[in-house]
Amino acid sequence: MKYLQPICLLMFFYFSSCNGQDYKNTTSEKAHLSEKILKVGGAFENSEFTYIGIPATIESIDTSAAWNLEGSKLIISGTVYLPDGISPASDILIYYYHTNLDGKYVHVPGVKQSMPPTKQGHTHGFIRGWVKTDKKGQYKIYTVKPMPYPNGKEAAHIHLTVKEPGNISEYYIDSILFNDDPLLTAEIRKSRKNRGGSGILNLMETEGLYTGKRDIILGLNIPDYPKSK
Ligand SMILES: [Fe+2]
Repeated sequence: MKYLQPICLLMFFYFSSCNGQDYKNTTSEKAHLSEKILKVGGAFENSEFTYIGIPATIESIDTSAAWNLEGSKLIISGTVYLPDGISPASDILIYYYHTNLDGKYVHVPGVKQSMPPTKQGHTHGFIRGWVKTDKKGQYKIYTVKPMPYPNGKEAAHIHLTVKEPGNISEYYIDSILFNDDPLLTAEIRKSRKNRGGSGILNLMETEGLYTGKRDIILGLNIPDYPKSK
């Protein structure tokens, strides 16, 4: 409950400062805040974590708190497209978080965007951040390669959540996975839903710097996503 107020406040800032163009026909911010949110994407545990610690201003490029720490440097970039799969989508919020080199989500007090654990001990840790696509629909994230969970049963991944302008809820899309990950079994590949497009990346490596591309198609394979959008 202690996050309720900050979340509401942060959501207020997000909805009020980021989506103005989509609400130009409404009479006041109060009116659009009361607009019914269309829930899409099915069950989404802890979706509210998306907004904890979100900054007032979000750029199309973000550098995670892990970038200057140990680990293999990784740059993820991509273009977000409208559901037609062709037109670039600007002003799309993307929230990301991933494990550290121990395969854990660890809160690091003092790190600006690090998320303190909830009463239940849940946290997205300190390697997390936000980007918002530019006019060309593009974004870029500087971080390090995540490691698999300590149990070694799940491939290394980067979680992604999308929030579009308007009254549609945030929804998660296929996590970023790495094609050369030995934990990425045929079974896991088969089970992928392709939400927002494939999250399986072929990384390029140049002198220790890895780069990968994760394009996103809004609404693709997202349950209850409005067809007219
Ligand atoms: Fe995870």
